Amino acid sequence: MTTTESPILELRGVSKRFGAVQALQGVDLALRPGEVVALVGDNGAGKSTLIKGIAGIHPFDEGETSFDGRPVAIHGPHDAADLGIEIVYQDLALADNLDVVENMYLGRERTNRFGLLSEEAMERDAADTMSGLAVTTLSSVRQKVAGLSGGQRQTVAVGKAVMWNSRVVILDEPTAALGVAQTRQVLDLVNRLGNQGLAVLLVSHNLHDVFEVADRIVVLRLGQLVGDLDASQVNQQQVVEAITAGTLTSVPGMATHATGPGAKRGDDAAEPSADAAESGGAAASTDPTGPTDTDGDRADGETTP
Ligand SMILES: Nc1ncnc2c1ncn2[C@@H]1O[C@H](COP(=O)(O)OP(=O)(O)OP(=O)(O)O)[C@@H](O)[C@H]1O
Ligand SMILES: [Mg+2]
Repeated sequence: MTTTESPILELRGVSKRFGAVQALQGVDLALRPGEVVALVGDNGAGKSTLIKGIAGIHPFDEGETSFDGRPVAIHGPHDAADLGIEIVYQDLALADNLDVVENMYLGRERTNRFGLLSEEAMERDAADTMSGLAVTTLSSVRQKVAGLSGGQRQTVAVGKAVMWNSRVVILDEPTAALGVAQTRQVLDLVNRLGNQGLAVLLVSHNLHDVFEVADRIVVLRLGQLVGDLDASQVNQQQVVEAITAGTLTSVPGMATHATGPGAKRGDDAAEPSADAAESGGAAASTDPTGPTDTDGDRADGETTP
């Protein structure tokens, strides 16, 4: 549900430049407890850059980040983890040779007062976390991760995030490599995270998935925010229009047009005053040329299911 609660994580005016490429420009984003926000945009729109900025992997050049209303500086992944921001990357950082429990506790193992690993306690907590998330597809938390399917691996990574009391969970394309049933599992899990009061940000190219779980849809185009939409008020076509032709707004002191390779299609229709977010997001202009595919690794058609 769209909530009016104060954001857990809030970004204001964040920008990031890689050499000549303005990957992000003046982006605002608020993640609230219990809300699932989908982050969409064409290839090169800046989605991964936004996540890496939040994660502290590539800190933002400009802008403010606040957590529970207080300004914070995230300089590296440890800062993000300390705040309770957990990021589930597509190429999951799980250790194949270890079992589920060992993976969930990797680097944070519990020991008893004799310095020995508290195996039973870890196993119990890991199992409780997974059953609390209604994960029923794992036969045992003592299974080696190497033998798990892609969907099961996603659930372990998400379970790990939940077990460590994360407040914000960010998933980058979690269903991209999954089949129908596994996608279902992961989407159910995303819904449950929201129901448990976490703030969830889901990056996806699959608008069908997005509409299944998102309360809000945030659209990036050429590094700029071109839509912040209530998912119940828009349809897929409107989101596609925002992705491909959302009105770019200029930011004072900066060029309206991004200058990197991602900006090779000049946007002569850019109107400084228009705000796609407030006007329902689906910028009126239609563009028959389809998405700008900056790196050519994804066909235009994949934007729509
Ligand atoms: N480390 C980097 N060095 C230089 N340029 C980068 C770097 N990371 C991203 N960029 C550039 O920043 C822009 C945004 O890239 P980003 O990876 O954030 O896009 P994306 O929305 O995640 O795209 P995709 O859907 O293809 O994953 C692109 O023009 C990209 O080439
Ligand atoms: Mg990306």
